[in-house]
Amino acid sequence: MRLTVNGVDHEFDADPRTSLLDALRDHLALTGTKKGCDHGQCGACTVLVEGRRINACLTLAVMHEGDEITTVEGLGKPGDLHPMQESFLHHDGFQCGYCTPGQIVSAVGMVDEANKGWPSHVSTDLDGPMELTDAEISERMSGNLCRCSAYPNIVDAIREAKD
Ligand code: FES
Repeated sequence: MRLTVNGVDHEFDADPRTSLLDALRDHLALTGTKKGCDHGQCGACTVLVEGRRINACLTLAVMHEGDEITTVEGLGKPGDLHPMQESFLHHDGFQCGYCTPGQIVSAVGMVDEANKGWPSHVSTDLDGPMELTDAEISERMSGNLCRCSAYPNIVDAIREAKD
């Protein structure tokens, strides 16, 4: 199987029934993408495929050969964080942190969707004309659950990152 993740090509042996989430975590050691429900209900496993947010637990890895896949590891790294990561830190957009990678990846994808309509390319650039109310941000982020209920801070973080 061949996957392109965060700009790096990987080739590995895996059962064709392997989910994208398990391929990322178990075969590529990209454990920033979390497994919560494994049933498409929590959003902890959110990654970007061709710039579009998806739940990695709901799709087979083999279906994404040739796609550009972006995980939280591809957004930033210690000392050089993505603006959305910086903003989540600034606003305490988390408590336990388990949902945070999925929240951040989803937020980056959501801003790109709002700026450009459905994206036709991979983009983690936050520049653009997005103007969303807090309620609209919450609605567009409703696929990402936070059991600690850090939702107000998450919305603040997204708004600041966009501004
Ligand atoms: Fe995929 Fe919960 S682990 S949506």
